[in-house]
Amino acid sequence: MKLVVFGANSPTGRLVTAMAVTAGHTVTAITRRPADFPFFDFRVQAAAADAMDADAVDWVVRDHDAVVSVIGSPPSMSPVTVCSQVTYNIVKAMINHGVRRLLCVGSVDLDAPDLSRVSLRRQRAIRPLVLALSRAVQEDVRGMEGIVRETGLDWTVFRPGRLLSGSHVTDYRTTVRPLPCPLTSRADIAHALVRELTNGDHLGETVFVTSARRMR
Ligand SMILES: NC(=O)c1ccc[n+]([C@@H]2O[C@H](COP(=O)([O-])OP(=O)(O)OC[C@H]3O[C@@H](n4cnc5c(N)ncnc54)[C@H](OP(=O)(O)O)[C@@H]3O)[C@@H](O)[C@H]2O)c1
Repeated sequence: MKLVVFGANSPTGRLVTAMAVTAGHTVTAITRRPADFPFFDFRVQAAAADAMDADAVDWVVRDHDAVVSVIGSPPSMSPVTVCSQVTYNIVKAMINHGVRRLLCVGSVDLDAPDLSRVSLRRQRAIRPLVLALSRAVQEDVRGMEGIVRETGLDWTVFRPGRLLSGSHVTDYRTTVRPLPCPLTSRADIAHALVRELTNGDHLGETVFVTSARRMR
């Protein structure tokens, strides 16, 4: 397949790109920082684009078979619209060019941050700030998922838990309901995305991905 990967230069996006190429796909990798993109492979083409720019997104999406988005934004105290706006642009471009397959990464509700390694006294002090910082991003991700569900495209939304670094793929689980205290390695979410491109097991579904405990 000819894929467009938005957020290809993120830690997760780089793993998605590498695994997609290994699986036999070609990748158009969207990043605002192409000079930092570490792939030198004829099957990967980096394209500089700000995905908030609808015309730029329309240009890159045409002539592809599927779109993968791992776009994200840092915690913020102010309203954030990156995920929802970029996804709106992607969906519009896909409909415009007849591209039907869309895979996105959302997130489980991070309103309950993992502060288990912090003393109870400090937890009480920092929890309100952590919640406030994650709230705007959560709203944005919720908006993104809403847009995707309404499209009528062949979509799948993946929801990792708290993301962990690491390039080992574990014996992860994919479920339609969240498991308690989910943690997900970036390698596992990347693997799940690329596997879904091939298998198409979860069309029109929201899928929770949880890494195997012994490999975290
Ligand atoms: N961190 C967590 O615990 C967590 C938990 C659940 C879900 N997630 C989700 O998992 C995904 C991957 O997370 P991650 O930590 O590996 O990556 P990340 O650090 O969130 O990176 C996000 C990527 O989005 C791209 N991006 C943002 N705005 C853009 C714009 N206007 N135009 C083009 N690209 C833009 C950035 O690309 P460039 O800077 O290269 O342009 C960056 O590579 C994200 O969707 C995130 O929301 C994260």
